Amino acid sequence: METKETKPAAVGAENGRGYPPPDEQGEAFRFADFSIDRWLRVVPGGYLRGTRFGQPTGAGIPELIREQGMLRQVYLMDLALFIAAERVSTQVASALVRLAPDESSFVFLASQTLDEARHFESFANRFRELGLAPAQREKLAQDLLSPAYRGFLDLLLEMTAAGDFEAVIVGLNIILEGMAFPLYDYEMRYWRPFDPALVEIINGAFKDECRHVGFGEKHLAWRLSRDPLVRARVQRRIDDLSRKMRDVFKEFLAAFVGFYDLAVQEYPERCSGVEIIPGRRLLETSAEDQVRWLEHEIVLGHRKRLGRIGLECVL
Ligand SMILES: [Fe+2]
Ligand SMILES: [Fe+2]
Repeated sequence: METKETKPAAVGAENGRGYPPPDEQGEAFRFADFSIDRWLRVVPGGYLRGTRFGQPTGAGIPELIREQGMLRQVYLMDLALFIAAERVSTQVASALVRLAPDESSFVFLASQTLDEARHFESFANRFRELGLAPAQREKLAQDLLSPAYRGFLDLLLEMTAAGDFEAVIVGLNIILEGMAFPLYDYEMRYWRPFDPALVEIINGAFKDECRHVGFGEKHLAWRLSRDPLVRARVQRRIDDLSRKMRDVFKEFLAAFVGFYDLAVQEYPERCSGVEIIPGRRLLETSAEDQVRWLEHEIVLGHRKRLGRIGLECVL
């Protein structure tokens, strides 16, 4: 009987857009920086060593968060934001592995997929420790998340299904993750007085996101500098997504910071040492000022990042 030999397709061959191998991509995009070999040393063998679900072993939920009250509600609202983003990030990053046009992207995106799934699991575990079953958690997320935020995540999944590698890298690594950069720092400041273990989870996730955003920047800077048509297409896409994400953050921050501000009024002694914006203490800074500052930081960072990639910023 005749047998037909099947050869595995080379990475990038599927969509006919294979790029040169990494060693031809030059200094701007070095294979070793994004390898799984490095990931093993830096992540599981580095900052995650000794943790369980991203937090110090044995750290439970603090009593103040366990109690029914406004602080717990704000906490849940925040966890819901994280878990929704991490679920979609995992789905999108795993789809990007299949679309990857070169081997270094292929390998890096496989590690990013695992990072995102780990983030999802760490936040899901926090819900579990709070006594919420997955169905309750999802109901809560449905109630707490804004239509704009859900719309953005759905759009990201639609773009992924359409299979445009560059557009999806922009949507995930530059917009969703890159624009959220300043938030991580503030999230840690907000929660340090109440839940140091959550701060550890956020800090570990932030370190991962730094690598994801760094990869997105380097890959796009390299790719776009070689193809003006792709550059024009990505620019159009980024204009639209930047505006949408700015609106999502605006809405979330107004709600989150407003509620947080009210919730912590009951615990002035815990928050007395927190500096929320440079030179300004949390308790002496209005929610409006905090939101204004955060929005400013988000736009500033985004503009700088797009400049490094070689793109214009509409914000
Ligand atoms: Fe993530
Ligand atoms: Fe990420």
